[in-house]
Amino acid sequence: MLVTIPDVLDAERIRFIQAQLSGARFVDGKLSAGMTAQRVKNNEELAADQKLLEQLNNIVMGSLIKHPTYQSAALPARVAAPFYARYNTGMTYGDHVDDAIMGPAGQRYRSDVSTTVFLNAPSEYEGGELVIRTAFGEQKVKLEAGAAVVYPSSSLHHVAAVTHGTRLVAVTWAQSMVRDPSRRELLFGLNEARESLLQSQPDSEASRKLDISYSNLFRMWAEL
Ligand code: NI
Repeated sequence: MLVTIPDVLDAERIRFIQAQLSGARFVDGKLSAGMTAQRVKNNEELAADQKLLEQLNNIVMGSLIKHPTYQSAALPARVAAPFYARYNTGMTYGDHVDDAIMGPAGQRYRSDVSTTVFLNAPSEYEGGELVIRTAFGEQKVKLEAGAAVVYPSSSLHHVAAVTHGTRLVAVTWAQSMVRDPSRRELLFGLNEARESLLQSQPDSEASRKLDISYSNLFRMWAEL
């Protein structure tokens, strides 16, 4: 399941982030890549001081984590601090799956859900689509600034070469309370139906039964 969220960051937050990133130092993204990713990764990552990173993370993660669609799609148990990646003309990130285990010693987590938050407008660069292989073929994702896409970390994906301009994104991972992507998808769909019924007919027997079934199915599958 691939879920796009159009409104993670508003225009004011995007402007602030872009201003901070435009003056910041970026380093070769290979430095943070695992052995296999190093061979296909060609981008740059923010190497900022702790204060700037904390400032950016508070904005990006603060907005993402409290977004109800993110909560419902990712069912996050643990969420990592993001990387800020920049792709200049000619840069790309070839086919890979994200590392299974991330984080420093003592703070390890399993990556179940990957999220890319787009930080500049699609009109500012050509190419640079996030291409995710799904059971139904390749999905190409290139969203407005402030929008995000959430997808299983186990899916093969790449970033198409940027042929003009600069692509700016924040990428982050979460360990989900429900590790199986097909179970998360099922819960996401059920929750949509549940919320819609709770809105339109809060006192109906159907709403009550769906609400109980959702809660108990979630409980059956959730791990913390
Ligand atoms: Ni990736």
